[in-house]
Amino acid sequence: MTENPEQALVDGYGRRISYLRVSVTDRCNLRCVYCMPEQGIDLAPMAEILSYEEIRRVVEVAAPMGLRHVRLTGGEPLARKGVVDLVRMIAAVPGIEEVTLTTNGVSLARHAHALAEAGLRRVNVSLDTFRPDRFKQITRVGRYEDVMEGIEAASAAGLRPIKLNVVLIPSLNDDEALDFAASTLDKDWEVRFIELMPFLPSESCARDTTGSAGYVPNEVVRRRIEEHLGPLLPAETETGNGPAEYYRLEGAAGRIGFISPLSGEDFCSRCNRLRLTADGRLRPCLLTDREVDVKAALRGEGGDDAVRLAILRALEIKPDSHHVNDGDRPVHRSMIEIGG
Ligand code: 5AD
Ligand code: SF4
Repeated sequence: MTENPEQALVDGYGRRISYLRVSVTDRCNLRCVYCMPEQGIDLAPMAEILSYEEIRRVVEVAAPMGLRHVRLTGGEPLARKGVVDLVRMIAAVPGIEEVTLTTNGVSLARHAHALAEAGLRRVNVSLDTFRPDRFKQITRVGRYEDVMEGIEAASAAGLRPIKLNVVLIPSLNDDEALDFAASTLDKDWEVRFIELMPFLPSESCARDTTGSAGYVPNEVVRRRIEEHLGPLLPAETETGNGPAEYYRLEGAAGRIGFISPLSGEDFCSRCNRLRLTADGRLRPCLLTDREVDVKAALRGEGGDDAVRLAILRALEIKPDSHHVNDGDRPVHRSMIEIGG
């Protein structure tokens, strides 16, 4: 696909943007303690949520500019009706090479086959514990067994490699880092440790459980793994240059990844993405409260040109990096509204 250099997806710092994360809903069937207050959040009214046709239009405008990979997130993307149709719609847009999905896995078993058939390539499953009782404690309402069934169904449907997203929360589940790492010895999945980012209520959660706000730096996790399970050998990935650094334990079937938005040097310099919120805002940085209203462009009179301008504007305001470590945190939205 030819790209007009004037309109290519390159930001002000020379980073090429090829990846769009689309939050299809701010609803979720779980209530994870670090993601959602127990009473839930104020949900956007349905009229404010982008339709599937509107989401497709953003993708159709961005594809000739260089967009190649679309990931559907939430809330919980499988909680929105007809998401399989959206996968099919986006996979059919010329230039789009991959459609993927991040899910909590609870209803994945029911949808895995149809998702694969619609053109989905892979799934990331968020799972923070292997202990059924603790799963209930973290998600407040979920059943661990449902997620495991979902993972198996996804694997059987060819949505491989399965990636597990693991967020370690000090004193809540950080004692399971070794279990997750060891699981890669005989499972061919990729376990990715993601540092807990300071979105409310994650912060209050970490404070409640440890007495101080915080996260487990991936360097600590890495050291613990090497001490107990042996050296981590650098591993290749087939699945693109995302933010994770991959390793393999000797003889392991799967891989271990580290996503270090807080402790990682150069984390942001490799950033290749934009985000689209369910209510139609382009958010160029997960951890910075800057957004562009693309919904106004989609629903206004300006046609595709207005949508293109909104995308270019989002690139323009994409910061060189987040400044969370200097105390500058996102306050306008919680994680569940952005989808990670
Ligand atoms: N910090 C890091 N990761 C988070 N996720 C949700 N909230 C946070 C947070 N505060 C993860 C979920 C999911 C992914 C989309 O983001 O576990 O896997
Ligand atoms: Fe739902 Fe994911 Fe947030 Fe948990 S972390 S409440 S599964 S969106």
